[in-house]
Amino acid sequence: MEKIIVRGRKRLCGQVKISGSKNASVAVLPSLILSTGKVTLQNLPDITDVRTMIRILEDLGVNIRRRGRNALEFNPARLRGFTPPYNLVKKMRASYYLMGSLLARFGRAEVPVPGGCDLGPRPIDQHLKGFAALGAKINIEHGLIKLAGKKLAGAHIYLDVVSVGATINLMLAAASAEGKTVLENAAKEPEIVDLANFLNAMGASIKGAGTDVIRIEGMPRFGDVDHTIIPDRIEAGTFMLAAAATGGDVVVEDVIPKHLEAVTAKLREMGVEVEVEPERIRVKGTQSLRASDLKTFPYPGFPTDLQPLGMVLLTAAEGTSVITENVFDGRFRHVDELKRMGAQIKVEGRTAVVEGGRLLSGAPVQATDLRAGAALVIAGLMAKGETVLSEPEHIYRGYENLEQKLNSLGASLKRVRDQNPRSFSSPS
Ligand code: UD1
Repeated sequence: MEKIIVRGRKRLCGQVKISGSKNASVAVLPSLILSTGKVTLQNLPDITDVRTMIRILEDLGVNIRRRGRNALEFNPARLRGFTPPYNLVKKMRASYYLMGSLLARFGRAEVPVPGGCDLGPRPIDQHLKGFAALGAKINIEHGLIKLAGKKLAGAHIYLDVVSVGATINLMLAAASAEGKTVLENAAKEPEIVDLANFLNAMGASIKGAGTDVIRIEGMPRFGDVDHTIIPDRIEAGTFMLAAAATGGDVVVEDVIPKHLEAVTAKLREMGVEVEVEPERIRVKGTQSLRASDLKTFPYPGFPTDLQPLGMVLLTAAEGTSVITENVFDGRFRHVDELKRMGAQIKVEGRTAVVEGGRLLSGAPVQATDLRAGAALVIAGLMAKGETVLSEPEHIYRGYENLEQKLNSLGASLKRVRDQNPRSFSSPS
């Protein structure tokens, strides 16, 4: 079993290039099966969620060729299956996008009920309600969601909750349904806009992505496309918060600053200097961080995915901060781990109260999910002494080369396996 050892009291300084977006990639990859042409994707991050999705596509019969370090070419013309394998699907929640894409391509999908990060109950009622409105028949049996709808027809769908996953799945199914679909109360995340741009470039007609009303005109076929995945705003936000948390000075490069406005605003409110340029953001830490309340919301609000990292930062701010998690019920599992490092945090329902201003101390901790794992690594960099993080596999799902990138900024992280330490890259 692997662990990551983090040496504490490290300031992060320097420049770091941000990879392609995980959440956009894991939506675009299953969507490419709508095409019967040649699909080229650039800026795909090399992370385990992307590798898993690629293996699922291969299993379904998609022909894949490497076209560069982060570029692949896909030929989905001879797709043969509509049942992706359970052993791969269970590894990642986003595999449920295959429901929408297989339905659009074949009028049929049999997809195992999804797994993914454990953030509490994650219903998919809005996805299923939307598929039904488009005319699909739905059966859940033997752990499979079975969808059938050879002739889907456009519909007016109002989502009861703002859901990224449901918005994407319904965009996919509607892309080839006959007639017009109107999706109301849609999610507005940049990854949805990226997916709409990708689908439109291959022949879809999707308007309004990025607003809460999306209009889709169904199209019979989809062709060639060459698409570059947008930068990962959550990875960028991770490095911005890490720079502030370690009192460092970091430039995140190849980003879309508009996607990070909530993070920029929160950092400035806490007294951190943030300089924004067209494709880079510089974050200069301060010795006197101000406490601040933090509320997560769907985009353009502060992202729930950065809440654990925001919490780590707030442990360093003098005074009391209140965090309200409005998106996921169970997203405080990192709190117990942070308490092991000396953080003073009380959780009541969807609220966490952080008494900041104390120096954390290194401890053995466990990554409970992807973003919690990243947050614990950053807490380890702030703490005195050594932190040993177990279950780091969660982190590899969503961060490309996190160890190397952090070490190039002056951190000291080592992956170890069976008492046999292996340095990832030498600290600069
Ligand atoms: C996506 C992101 C995840 C991010 C989340 C919120 C991907 C692969 N994952 O997850 O990183 O944290 O958006 O920004 O892009 N809900 C329902 N019924 C449904 C669907 C959702 O009640 O049918 C609820 C969920 O339980 C949750 C809320 O809606 O409380 C938002 O979930 P959703 O936006 O769907 O998150 P995901 O798409 O799973």
